[in-house]
Amino acid sequence: MLKTHSCGELRAGHVGQSVSLAGWVHRRRDHGGIVFIDLRDREGVVQVVFNPKTAPDAYRVASELRNEWVLRVVGEVTRRPKGTENPKLPTGDVEVAVLEAQTLNPAKTPPFYINEEGEEEVDEGVRLRYRYLDLRRERMKKNIILRHRVVKFIRDFLDARGFVEIETPILIKSTPEGARDYLVPSRIHKGHFYALPQSPQQLKQLLMVAGFEKYFQIARCFRDEDLRADRQPEFTQLDLEMSFVDVKDILDLMEEMFTGLVETVTPEFRMIKPFPRLTYDECMARYGTDKPDMRFGLEMADLTDIAAKTEFSVFRTAASEGGLVRGFAAPGCASYTRRQLEELTEFVRSKGAKGLITIALEDEKDKGLESLSLESVKSAAAKYMTLEQIKAMAQRLGAKMGDLLLIVAGPPKVVNASLSALRHEMGHRLGLADPKLLAFLFITDFPLFDWNEETKRWDPTHHPFTSPKEEDISLLETDPGKVLAKCYDMVCNGYELSSGSIRIHNRELQAKIFKLLNYSPEDAQARFGHMLEAFEYGAPPHGGIAPGIDRIVMLLAGEESIREVIAFPKNQSAMDPMTDAPSPVSEEQLRELHLRLLEEQ
Ligand code: AMO
Repeated sequence: MLKTHSCGELRAGHVGQSVSLAGWVHRRRDHGGIVFIDLRDREGVVQVVFNPKTAPDAYRVASELRNEWVLRVVGEVTRRPKGTENPKLPTGDVEVAVLEAQTLNPAKTPPFYINEEGEEEVDEGVRLRYRYLDLRRERMKKNIILRHRVVKFIRDFLDARGFVEIETPILIKSTPEGARDYLVPSRIHKGHFYALPQSPQQLKQLLMVAGFEKYFQIARCFRDEDLRADRQPEFTQLDLEMSFVDVKDILDLMEEMFTGLVETVTPEFRMIKPFPRLTYDECMARYGTDKPDMRFGLEMADLTDIAAKTEFSVFRTAASEGGLVRGFAAPGCASYTRRQLEELTEFVRSKGAKGLITIALEDEKDKGLESLSLESVKSAAAKYMTLEQIKAMAQRLGAKMGDLLLIVAGPPKVVNASLSALRHEMGHRLGLADPKLLAFLFITDFPLFDWNEETKRWDPTHHPFTSPKEEDISLLETDPGKVLAKCYDMVCNGYELSSGSIRIHNRELQAKIFKLLNYSPEDAQARFGHMLEAFEYGAPPHGGIAPGIDRIVMLLAGEESIREVIAFPKNQSAMDPMTDAPSPVSEEQLRELHLRLLEEQ
C-alpha cells in the first residue's frame, strides 16, 4: 500500500505518528516560502506542510504541484500551531509535516472546480462529459456512498428475514410494464430479438412457482420512455416477491424496512408514523392525485353541488356536463395581488385547466367565517353567488378569514390534474414542504383497468398479472371498470416510490384477464404461454413490490433528479456524453446481426 492512513481520518490522537498519505491536491497555498497543500482522498482532506528548511527535496516537488495532481507524502502528524486550527475540517486540529513527497501523476486543469462546490453552477452537460471528475466533488461522492449504504441496509434487512437474492437474466423475452422495450438482435437466430427487462416481473413470479417463497434482487430495469428528472432509461429496483401473503403483509414489511432504513442511514429525517394507508378513491378525493405530497394539508373538497346552484355559468356548465368543481383553501393568501392571481391562473392553464376561480376572504386573518360579509369577499365570481353559497364553499374547504379559495371547474381528469399540481405548487410556495420530513403513504385498491380512449380498450392500471379483489371477480364480465385490484403504491413527498400487487396464480383467471385486455388466445399463448403453463404446476398464491432505488436515494440525498444519485446516468436525451453512447456500429456488425439501416427519410 502506498498509504498507511487515509487523509480524512487523522485526528489529534495521531500526533507524533509517522504516516504515509496519498491523494489529490485539493488546494495549494504558498505562505512566506512555506507551501500548504490540502490533500484529499475519499475519506476527506488534511493539510500537509512543506518546509524548504527541513525537507528541501519535498519542497521542490511541492512548488510544482497544481490542483488535482496525484501526490504521495511521508511525514509526521503534528498539532497545528495555536490559532491556526480549522474547526470546519474534521482533521482541522492537525497537519502533516512532510519529509518526503512524490508526484504520482500530474493533471490537466479540470474543466470545472472540484474544490469550490456551490460557488458556481456547472453545466450538467459538462459534468456528465467529465463524470469521473464530477464524482470527485463532495456532493456527488456523498450521494454515491449514500446509495451504497441504502442498498447495503436493504440487503441485510431482507437477508435477516429469510429472503434469498437471486439474479435473473438481462436478455429475456419482452415483459410489459407499459413502456417501449429495448431490443437486442440475435446473431444466431436471424430476425429474432431479446428484450431487456422492463422489470423481472415474470421471472420473480416463476421463482415463486419454483418454491423460493421469499426472493429479492437489486435489479436493473430498462425502459425506452420519455425521460424526466425521476426517470432514466435504465434504473434500479429493489425487486421483491413473496409467497403465501396478502396485501397487508407486503405493506407491513415495506413500512418496517423504510422506517429502519431512514432511522439507520439518514437519521436527520423525520417521518410520519405509522405510514398512512389510503384507498385510491380516498386519495383522489382528498388530493386529486395518486402521488400527493403529504408533508402538508391543503386538502381538496368537492364543491359541485353548491356550484350547480349558483348563477355562475362556469360552475353551472361544469356541473351540468358531468364535470366537477373542486378547490382548496390557501391559508393567509387573501391578500394576493392581481399579478399573483394571474400567475396562478397561468399555472393551472399550463396543466390543462380552462381557468382558475379565486375567492379571497379579505379580513383579519384567522377570524372565523361568521364574520364573512359580501364586502370582505373579493372574487370575479362573487356577483353570481349568494353569501350563503360562498360561506358554504369556504366551510367545506375548511377556510378561515384571510384565506384564498382556489377553485377549478371542468372534466374530472382535468380538474384533478390541474388542481393537484396547484396544491403541490402552493405547498412549496408557502414553505409548507419541510425538507427534513419524509411523508410516506400507501395507496391501495386501485381500479384493475383503465379505459384507453385512443385505442378504445382496457389497459391494466398496474400490469396484466395483478389479481382483482376476490369479491370483484364476478364484475369482470359485466362491469370491468368497477373491478378493484389487489395492488398498491408507495408514495413519498409527491414521488411514486414503489408499485406492487398480489398476483393471479390461476391459469383460468389469468387467461380471462388477457382476453379482457384484448389479447387473442394465440397471442396470449405466444407471449405468456410459459406463465400460463407454470400456473398449472402448483403455483402458490404470491405477491410483491418493487421500490425504485434511484428515487429513494434521491429523496434521502435531498436531490431533485435521480441523475444526481447514479454514477453514470444518461442525459435528458438518453445519451451518455462521456462515452458517446449510443453510437453507430460498423456494416460488418450489422450484417452479422442480419440488420440493415433504413435510408434517412
Ligand atoms: P413499476 O413499473 O411501477 O412496477 O415500477 C416500480 C418502481 O420503479 C421505479 N421506476 C423508475 N425509476 C427510474 N426511472 C424509470 N424510468 C422508472 N420506472 C419505474 C419507480 C416505480 O415506483 N414489476 C412491477 C413491480 C411489481 O409489481 O412488483 C414494476 O416494475 O420508483
